Amino acid sequence: MKCVDDFRLKLGDRELVPIVIGGMGVDISTAELALEAARLGGIGHISDAMVPTVSDRRFKTSFVKDKLKLHKYNVANSDKSSVRFDLGHLAEATRLHVGRTMDEKRGDGMIFINCMEKLTMNAPKETLRVRLTAALDAGIDGITLAAGLHLGSFALIEDHPRFRQVQLGIIVSSLRALQLFLRKNARLNRLPDFVVIEGPLAGGHLGFGMDWAKYDLGAIVVEIQDWLKAEGLNIPLIPAGGIFTGSDATGFLEHGAAAVQVATRFTVARECGLPEDVQQQYFTANEEDIEVNGISPTGYPMRMLKNSPAIGDGIRPNCEAFGYLLDSSGRCDYIEAYNREVAAHPEARKVAVIDKTCLCTHMRNFECWTCGHYTYRLKDTTRQRADGGYEILSAEHIFRDYQFSKDGKIALPK
Ligand SMILES: Cc1cc2nc3c(=O)[nH]c(=O)nc-3n(C[C@H](O)[C@H](O)[C@H](O)COP(=O)(O)O)c2cc1C
Repeated sequence: MKCVDDFRLKLGDRELVPIVIGGMGVDISTAELALEAARLGGIGHISDAMVPTVSDRRFKTSFVKDKLKLHKYNVANSDKSSVRFDLGHLAEATRLHVGRTMDEKRGDGMIFINCMEKLTMNAPKETLRVRLTAALDAGIDGITLAAGLHLGSFALIEDHPRFRQVQLGIIVSSLRALQLFLRKNARLNRLPDFVVIEGPLAGGHLGFGMDWAKYDLGAIVVEIQDWLKAEGLNIPLIPAGGIFTGSDATGFLEHGAAAVQVATRFTVARECGLPEDVQQQYFTANEEDIEVNGISPTGYPMRMLKNSPAIGDGIRPNCEAFGYLLDSSGRCDYIEAYNREVAAHPEARKVAVIDKTCLCTHMRNFECWTCGHYTYRLKDTTRQRADGGYEILSAEHIFRDYQFSKDGKIALPK
């Protein structure tokens, strides 16, 4: 019987352990977590979601404070169109986060950055170009384009000297999304180096509608494999979403996947950015405590724990400090939902907003407990302590368990 370690992921001239830890914003997939994956010979992701905030926390910079100071006059205004990001600051924050991480890299693996198109930041094209360019400047090994079709993203960096050297890939949830991406980029004569195929059981935002349960990762992978073969294209495929054991991963590798992308198991790693009390919530969750809902202002369904503090909370929009989801005309669905509730309850000191959440603020504060479908199985991956809590695991333990386990088994910590 085979295990993950019997396979290798070939990317360019490199051979890697075929385990990719997926990007988890905002700083849930920390530099420390990504560095462990690289040290162990796989691929780790940092995320560029709210990178000025991440830089402030990591390097004691003051990007968020400075932005708020500049736009403070607008806090009570429901029109946020004047709240712009300073592109120089955005580049600096990205270069700091990526550069420092790359400086600390040890081992044979690689570090990629997860870059979400849905972070439209009141100037979608300009801010995305800056984030991608700064990550390339700072020496990132690869970029995974996420949360969007990214039809124009390659073109934003086609003149960068590293455009044809780094590993560039995209996350898709359907053959159609991949076909669109390839068609739009055909003129650049540069295929993606890998494609992550994310199924409906993943954490974070889903590339499906509320009918996500009708879809099956294995079936989407086969459909994409068959199409690529018919087109004579050879692009490494990396399935993701609900791959919970080494045996699950081995199954995909035996059927032609180049690697697997996993995340949920690592949400309870010591190196993960979630505070320990939140990690304990993940451990104790049962299947019925997890839902896919429509509260993300991005419009994508999102999976999370039902007791997330973000659900129903009616805080004032904080776009002057954050504002990552403002579209090109300064709109965000949360602002509209919030204003509607304020207008309906003029006497209330605080309103409840049920249908949308202020995702920037709540992700920043680790109050939106997004998670994968199998989060309810995390309690089976560790030991319970005498005080009733669950033992936090090392990223190395989880990584090695994926790499070497067989027979559907999960190794408990020593
Ligand atoms: C807590 C959490 C946060 C996530 N955040 C992001 C994100 O910011 N961007 C993204 O592309 N995917 C995100 N994902 C998806 C993962 O990168 C990964 O593809 C997926 O969760 C793999 O499935 P698994 O969690 O069942 O292993 C997130 C997943 C989790 C669990």
